[in-house]
Amino acid sequence: MGVLSAVLRRSRTGTTVAALTVGALVLSGCAGSSLDQSGGEQADGPVKIGLLVPLSGVYAPLGEDMRNGFQLYLDQHGGKLGGRTVELVSADEGESPQTGVPAAQKLVTQDQVTAVVGVVNSATALGLRDFFHESKKPLLIANAGADDITGARKSEYVWRTSFSNGEVAAALGAAVAEEAGGPVYLIAADYAAGKEMIAGFRKTFEAAGGKVAGEEYTPFGTTQDFQPFLSAIRGTDAKAVYSFYAGAEAVSFVKQYKQFGLAGDLPLYGTGFLTEGGVLDAQGEAASGVKTSLHYSTELDTPRNKEYVDAYRKAYDEAPTVYTVQAYDAAAVLDKALASAPGGGGEELVKALGAVGQVDSPRGPWSFDADHNAEQKYYLREVRSGGGGMVNAVVSELS
Ligand code: BEZ
Repeated sequence: MGVLSAVLRRSRTGTTVAALTVGALVLSGCAGSSLDQSGGEQADGPVKIGLLVPLSGVYAPLGEDMRNGFQLYLDQHGGKLGGRTVELVSADEGESPQTGVPAAQKLVTQDQVTAVVGVVNSATALGLRDFFHESKKPLLIANAGADDITGARKSEYVWRTSFSNGEVAAALGAAVAEEAGGPVYLIAADYAAGKEMIAGFRKTFEAAGGKVAGEEYTPFGTTQDFQPFLSAIRGTDAKAVYSFYAGAEAVSFVKQYKQFGLAGDLPLYGTGFLTEGGVLDAQGEAASGVKTSLHYSTELDTPRNKEYVDAYRKAYDEAPTVYTVQAYDAAAVLDKALASAPGGGGEELVKALGAVGQVDSPRGPWSFDADHNAEQKYYLREVRSGGGGMVNAVVSELS
């Protein structure tokens, strides 16, 4: 509880969200017997955008960051996307598809939004794919990394401004194989993202000659005591540990890793979600030396990032995160796409999304690949002290 409240303590200043409700439409009554919700709308009227992020559960702080990032872009652009005033309708993704899928369906069928932005959890993204595909409604995933979303189950209606789990994890494999000096233990949250973050890492790690000391998955959303798992790691010949945790679980895992005495003996690696934003603030010194792969750091030394960090700090009195950037960029691509899709219909809008080209992001320039995933650079980061707290210093670019 103490850990969770530490993560949740970040401020909510500066965010205004307009939530509109319109007459309820029964799903089957919207478009005959089809799920098709793609219809156009008035080109000069307001545009309604659904924001689906966790407002509850272990990933609630990530949801708050995404909401802030999206809102910052709106605030910097007069509340408009594609020249049209935005009415933002928020819905709570919660912690699983059981909450996230009905919330998304309500945004599309009842609130009649033009597009939905958000989604943190991979399992929820996978649960939503068919609904958006059949509804012909654009979904811009601004976090969830499920590989199949831009792989085996790609859809012309589903786009991603974040990353795929396999790629962000694979970026770290060779570096750990080189540094670890012996077998590495793999541990992650037991759900779609955790499995893919291990698989992606394992592929490049083993290809570079790395050996696995053991592998474990911890119950997602309910594990508060990691001691039994840490104890099992101690009992192996591991020389380092690679992990995937985010939100409140990342805080508990890293703090307990240190308290259990592993931090001094076995270097800890992970994907960047392990030490990102409010999570790192809550971990403090316990995270010192943790190395991660990610496509963003507040410490990226570019004029574009400095300008973004300053603007975000001014608006919210705290540092931005990868989650704020992914949502900010979702607003940026929607801005461009809506400008060239004045009717706002699903087919017209996804065609325009395919033509947005390079995005001038705080993370560095990126663009959609042929499968609608973000094609971008990944960085090796290390937690060091800086600026009165801990930061994810950029060590190098990962290939
Ligand atoms: C996911 O479920 O895809 C995910 C959640 C939090 C951080 C990164 C990935």
